[in-house]
Amino acid sequence: MLNRTLAFSLPILALLAAGTARAETVSVFCAPTEYDLCIKAASAWKDKTGNEAKINKMPQLLDDAIPLYQQLLAAKSTDVDVLFLDVIWLGMFKANLLDLSTLIPKADQDAHFPSTLAAAKLDDKLVAMPAYMDVGLMFYRKDLLEKYGKPVPKTWAELTVTAKEIQDKERADGKPDIWGYAWQAKSYEGLTCDAIELVSSNGGGNIIADDGKVTIDNPAAVEAITMAKGWIGTISPEGVLNYDEEASRAVFESGNAVFHRNWPYVWGTSHATGSAVIDKVGMMPLPVGKAGEKSSGCLGPMYYGVSKFSSKPEVAASFVDFVTGSDMQKMRAVDAAFNPSIPALYTDADVLKKIPFLKDNQQAFSDSAVRPSGYTGTSYNRVSQAFYRTVHDMLSGDAEVAPGLKDLAAKLEKLKESR
Ligand code: GLC
Repeated sequence: MLNRTLAFSLPILALLAAGTARAETVSVFCAPTEYDLCIKAASAWKDKTGNEAKINKMPQLLDDAIPLYQQLLAAKSTDVDVLFLDVIWLGMFKANLLDLSTLIPKADQDAHFPSTLAAAKLDDKLVAMPAYMDVGLMFYRKDLLEKYGKPVPKTWAELTVTAKEIQDKERADGKPDIWGYAWQAKSYEGLTCDAIELVSSNGGGNIIADDGKVTIDNPAAVEAITMAKGWIGTISPEGVLNYDEEASRAVFESGNAVFHRNWPYVWGTSHATGSAVIDKVGMMPLPVGKAGEKSSGCLGPMYYGVSKFSSKPEVAASFVDFVTGSDMQKMRAVDAAFNPSIPALYTDADVLKKIPFLKDNQQAFSDSAVRPSGYTGTSYNRVSQAFYRTVHDMLSGDAEVAPGLKDLAAKLEKLKESR
């Protein structure tokens, strides 16, 4: 009875707390992988402020949100207030994002990893606030590595050998559907990430350097992509050429892959109801190409920003402050293993109980490969498309690697200038 009374009175209390202000509704875009978490955050925000956040699910493939955002912003639409933003989109959309620097309390801004916040400071504006960190990580079947007495691989070459050996032995042991390695080789942004990780950790650079020099045409890059090409049909199914994160995760979580490259949230999903590999999973930074190189997980922090055309900019900014704040980042971490962008949460006992290897992930953030969106700005999408399409052709056997990278470099020279 007491609970019911409380449940009814909370929104009323919130309204009283908000003074005489009228309750507002803001419209928010949210990624499909964190949809349930957004609904939970919206409900907590309503309890706190009386305001409502209407959550809209973004397309399954995040790339498909780009034209959607472009259309809405070009039309100066007031239908959407808060946008969920991939780090590589900040430069693309900065002109249409509200400056949050005076709308978000300074202490809340300063709570985030400085480099992650700095990535959202463009043209003297704070165009978005970090919501969580993403970095490419390697998940693996620790039970199978133990079964066959194999150490965790430190290089991609070791991973290739271990994946093949365990795959072959498991197949002989009555698991015909198992594969050594599930990753993302569909022609989309995810392949830019997977490929840049291989190239960068082999000493082959990040496609375009910070100073604008196109670096992709080099022997280390040729070697890395050639190695990945060799995986198709041997340790990875042909179908990997059409796998995005969710398709490859399904293979791993049904017990049909030894190794799996994905983002931190897979620590949560692989231990949740429905997974066939609960308690059989290990997580580690990605292997390196060559000894001495850094494990180069692709860096993908995610942000929330406010459309410049929002008719309720202050309320929208206050939702962004709330959804990116410490309580909601902790909720995302504890419920679903999303990695916070707030360093103070890296020593939080509840967070560490859910994600025991968070310190290793933090190392992966500092060793990460950064995509060239800083330099390329508005042309990033075209640059990335040219890269992942070329790599996809190489992996599919439709293009030769060395000449393909030469042609790509020439194309990127032109594209990068249209920023
Ligand atoms: C994840 C990353 C993002 C990346 C995308 C690629 O969502 O956070 O940065 O662009 O995957 O599929």
